[in-house]
Amino acid sequence: MKEKRLLYVLVLIVSVIGLSNIYVMLGLLGCKPTYYSGEPRHTTDTRMKVDINMRDLTVKKTETPAQGETAILREKVFNTFKNDSRSSKLIYVHGRHLLKQGDDIFHKLHCPIRSCSVTTQVDQGPGADLVLLGFFSVVPKNPPFPRKSRDQIWAIQILEAPSHEPYFDNYNGLVNWTMTYRSDSTIQFPYFKFKYYAEPEMRQKVPNFAAGKSKKVAWLTSNLNAKFRNKYFKELSKYIQTDRIGRKSVIECPYEDMYDCLDKLKRNYKFYFAAENLFCNEYMTEKVGRNSYKYEMIPILLGARKEDYEKRLPPNSYIFAEDFKSPEHLAEYLHKLDKNDTMYNEYFNYRKTIFVEEEFSPPWCEICRRLHEEDAKPFWYDDIKGWWRKDACRSAPYHLLGKS
Ligand SMILES: *[C@@H]1O[C@H](CO)[C@@H](O)[C@H](O)[C@H]1NC(C)=O
Ligand SMILES: *[C@@H]1O[C@H](CO)[C@@H](O)[C@H](O)[C@H]1NC(C)=O
Ligand SMILES: *[C@@H]1O[C@H](CO)[C@@H](O)[C@H](O)[C@H]1NC(C)=O
Repeated sequence: MKEKRLLYVLVLIVSVIGLSNIYVMLGLLGCKPTYYSGEPRHTTDTRMKVDINMRDLTVKKTETPAQGETAILREKVFNTFKNDSRSSKLIYVHGRHLLKQGDDIFHKLHCPIRSCSVTTQVDQGPGADLVLLGFFSVVPKNPPFPRKSRDQIWAIQILEAPSHEPYFDNYNGLVNWTMTYRSDSTIQFPYFKFKYYAEPEMRQKVPNFAAGKSKKVAWLTSNLNAKFRNKYFKELSKYIQTDRIGRKSVIECPYEDMYDCLDKLKRNYKFYFAAENLFCNEYMTEKVGRNSYKYEMIPILLGARKEDYEKRLPPNSYIFAEDFKSPEHLAEYLHKLDKNDTMYNEYFNYRKTIFVEEEFSPPWCEICRRLHEEDAKPFWYDDIKGWWRKDACRSAPYHLLGKS
């Protein structure tokens, strides 16, 4: 029994070593991490398999009694790749004092290139290789210190959609990298990604996603500031059963229990009202990736352009509200899906090959890899505000409500 288990662990380890080598090599060659890009593709992506295997390993660690062994072996595997002859790059992260300092994160994420270190101490900022502003926070109104050397890279991370950022002008000519959800950023940092399963999982059967769901449209929000979104939902509610869940609604869902709450929604509702508060290109948030896809409700999308959704989401897995003349027409279609489980389940077909990864974790590996990139052409944004805002958003599609 014990031998068998050990053998199994060994086989797993060997396969991980082999594939991880490929992973490291690809990383060194400068390949971008790949994920589902809207193009149908075969599941022969080696990096995908590495991800899956690592997952398996983690699962095994908790499932089998041989926990200790697996953990130790796993540690060994990754230590093999730990040594990196490159000199370490210092990353100064502004304004996030609780962030873990040092190089741990790059090891924890098994980055192919990990000679990087994080600091949040402001006195280390001027000497850092990278100055990172707006990291899970707002970009400060003014640069925290002047740029000391031309070799220092300045990056800003923007989490929200373009709105009112007058002070961005203070960064003109200073910023080299942008990190946002948009694909025209230096490093794209989306709210969620889709990935392909490795082959064994691919064969898994897709269950009946309509089973046990007696309610229709759920919307989890406490933010009622976006007028169009509220009006659209109100109008939709006239034609199909809907529930808004959150503060100031009949059904409350305290923030601490959000995941419990989403679990409940997943069991009871067929559709999720995944409407953004702004209509900006490529802007799709956790309302789509987490609330709808992860929690197994068909998303009703309002926000980005249709082509943006087409590029990012699996085909035939969502409903684009603007395809329907009005909320009433949309409701009619939802009723149709509600009555026919076959039709409803067709929206989940992608699950045979693709799964959503809604972890919103910063792209540390890509940051470190880029910092070590030699002969990168110098680049900076002369007009950062213009880049961020120009033609980035449109006005809400009020014509759907029969008003102009
Ligand atoms: C990594 O480097 C340390 C110290 O520089 C050394 O002791 C260790 O053996 C090296 N590990 C590998 C796998 O090369
Ligand atoms: C349900 O939809 C499927 C696929 O579109 C169709 O073949 C079937 O006839 C429908 N069933 C009913 C009862 O309408
Ligand atoms: C970063 O931008 C500055 C201008 O502010 C420029 O001098 C420098 O060459 C740029 N660096 C890189 C690596 O693009």
